[in-house]
Amino acid sequence: MAFARLPDGAVTSARSPIERARAEVARQLKCIRCGAPGLRDEAAAWRCPACSSVFPVRAGVARFVAGQAYSESFGFEWNYFARTQLDSTRGEARSRETFIQKTGWSLDALRDKRVLDAGCGMGRFAEVCAEAGAEVYAVDLSTAVEAAYRNLGHRGNVHFFQADIMNLPFADETFDFIYSIGVLHHTPDTRAAFLRLVPLLKPGGTIAIWVYGKRLRLLVGGEILRAATRWLPRKWLLHASKIAIPLYHIHRLPVVGTATSILLPTSKDPDPEWRWLDTFDWYSPRYQWKHTCEEVEAWFREAGLVQMRRGAFPVTVSGIRPSPAGRVV
Ligand SMILES: C[S@@+](CC[C@H](N)C(=O)[O-])C[C@H]1O[C@@H](n2cnc3c(N)ncnc32)[C@H](O)[C@@H]1O
Repeated sequence: MAFARLPDGAVTSARSPIERARAEVARQLKCIRCGAPGLRDEAAAWRCPACSSVFPVRAGVARFVAGQAYSESFGFEWNYFARTQLDSTRGEARSRETFIQKTGWSLDALRDKRVLDAGCGMGRFAEVCAEAGAEVYAVDLSTAVEAAYRNLGHRGNVHFFQADIMNLPFADETFDFIYSIGVLHHTPDTRAAFLRLVPLLKPGGTIAIWVYGKRLRLLVGGEILRAATRWLPRKWLLHASKIAIPLYHIHRLPVVGTATSILLPTSKDPDPEWRWLDTFDWYSPRYQWKHTCEEVEAWFREAGLVQMRRGAFPVTVSGIRPSPAGRVV
């Protein structure tokens, strides 16, 4: 680290805020191959000092996976609808309100805290946390994180990683807050993915997740159709999903609307582009599990979390990691 002497004799770091931020990030990282802590910053890559593995940084995103694996539909989705749900683009607070509803957190509590967005998509919730003054680590398995970088890369307090929740490049006990909104049920094993996140929480830290509930409205016809739609070429499905825009009006008709809602369920969001996006989001993912509150709470207990809270919107649950002495900070 370079130092410069101030006129009054005080010593201060001569590094720019960006360099200081990268040094701070470097301390939180660990090698996903050998587990060694603290990666070396090589500007266009992160290098493990122990095993020399190199993790490139491309288009503003540090890459800890070789490809998107099963999440390719999300890469397509969030690069196409990159700003549809972004509060700063829409000039409204819809994502902020959803974030508060699904985490149960006060935004004031996030100031200067290290926060992990596990499955950030195009970054709508990362934007909310960055606005609140948090240091945000935005992670996604798919190229959605490239859209997040384009949306938020101008902010100094958001860092972008293409990485798998099952093997994240962060040291244990790194984060004050972890949230994963609408993500874990899209992994091959929701419970296993959740359990990978908990060790990354500091003692006293809080985790909040939202996963699909078993009683979802779209379940009947939507589930049957999904068996086919999730294998369709993305572009076809994108065009087909646009039917959600006019169908909204038919779904609202008496009798006929009940039938169409069951046979061909589509999003009923009042915003046309939002319901097109939501409909694609429902019919495209490879994995889409549904869970009960009881099931999710059992995972929280299994992970040793305390002060569990069930949100009003099913299935949202949050909990706190106790300190080793059993004390909740
Ligand atoms: C429905 S989107 C939700 C995105 C964002 N949380 C939101 O609500 O706008 C689910 C996201 O989870 C990501 N994802 C799925 N499996 C993942 C994994 N194993 N690791 C990291 N991200 C994953 C997908 O790529 C996708 O962007």
